[in-house]
Amino acid sequence: MIEVRNLVKRYGNHLAVDHLNFTVDTGQIYGFLGPNGAGKSTTMNIMTGYLGATEGEVIINGHNILEEPEEAKRCIGYLPEMPPLYLDMTVREYLDFVAELKKIPKKERKEQVEQSMLLVKIFDVQHRLIKNLSKGYRQRVGFAQAIIGFPEIIILDEPTVGLDPKQIIEIRSLIRELAKKHTVILSSHILAEVQEVCDYILIISQGRLVASDTPENLENLMSDQQTVEILARGSRDTVKKIVNSVPGIRQAAYEDGGEKQTVKVVLTPKSGADIRESLFTAFSKADCPLLMLYQSRTTLEDVFLELTQGSSAVANRKRQKKKTEREEERKEKELELMEESEREGGDRDGSSL
Ligand SMILES: Nc1ncnc2c1ncn2[C@@H]1O[C@H](COP(=O)(O)OP(=O)(O)OP(=O)(O)O)[C@@H](O)[C@H]1O
Ligand SMILES: [Mg+2]
Repeated sequence: MIEVRNLVKRYGNHLAVDHLNFTVDTGQIYGFLGPNGAGKSTTMNIMTGYLGATEGEVIINGHNILEEPEEAKRCIGYLPEMPPLYLDMTVREYLDFVAELKKIPKKERKEQVEQSMLLVKIFDVQHRLIKNLSKGYRQRVGFAQAIIGFPEIIILDEPTVGLDPKQIIEIRSLIRELAKKHTVILSSHILAEVQEVCDYILIISQGRLVASDTPENLENLMSDQQTVEILARGSRDTVKKIVNSVPGIRQAAYEDGGEKQTVKVVLTPKSGADIRESLFTAFSKADCPLLMLYQSRTTLEDVFLELTQGSSAVANRKRQKKKTEREEERKEKELELMEESEREGGDRDGSSL
């Protein structure tokens, strides 16, 4: 329904959009997520025909936005980052004007304007001057102008920016309402927002598309890094023996549990293994109390940071992680050697008896 092919935008030497390719299908809420300066507004401005691309093309329902702008634009309603509101007009005057600009047939205009005002709940303020409205209400007027004509696709650039929490909740529920009949694409640099509202997320960083999937799949993308943490009451030896009897564990790091006679273990399961039930059963069979069992979930935030942080920052984090793992391995080896030599000493003592 929307195809973005090989899109490039250069501002002088600066590459703001770097060969973007993606497709938007009907009937879902798409989130365009990226840090400040990632290229979200630039891409949306190109998709809606407000800005020309340096290279590439945008096809809306089969119409190229450059070659058939009227047909393509008819399918889209756009709420730009800074909506072009005429502050000295009343809400109604402004929306009538927008309907005229959008070439809505005269006899349908009144109905369209009223429907859009009802949908975004501004009917009661229709005779007020836009300049006297609160930011939240102005944003609603921006929404109303985007949906006049009821286009199939509604594109919203940071629709909740600058709003208070109550207004944010209202605007989000409005977006969900719109999505019942329209395809919605919204941009945001707030992860929680796209996670809550969107069915599909496109993550963009430095003009490049670095991931695109459902929120659930993006989280699973990094599920390899999931760990299970346990706290057990018993000696380290006992706990270790029990842990070693559980299949599906790639790595185990032991440390003091903080409380008397407790051991904390951070377990990394083999890829895809769910070790929680086996752990529970093994500890209960061995009569060793399991005081805590906790699975750390990879959050979308981890994915987002991983994908949008500079490569050096990610490499640093990885180096730090490797270093910690190596140290843990070294400690484990030392401990095993100590345990071995203790056992050998014990055996000798035994034989001499
Ligand atoms: N008119 C312009 N001239 C020069 N550079 C620009 C222009 N507009 C945007 N840029 C640059 O292009 C890059 C992408 O900007 P864009 O506004 O698309 O990012 P964004 O993802 O919308 O960011 P934000 O979250 O801050 O709105 C930035 O580095 C920005 O400085
Ligand atoms: Mg922007």
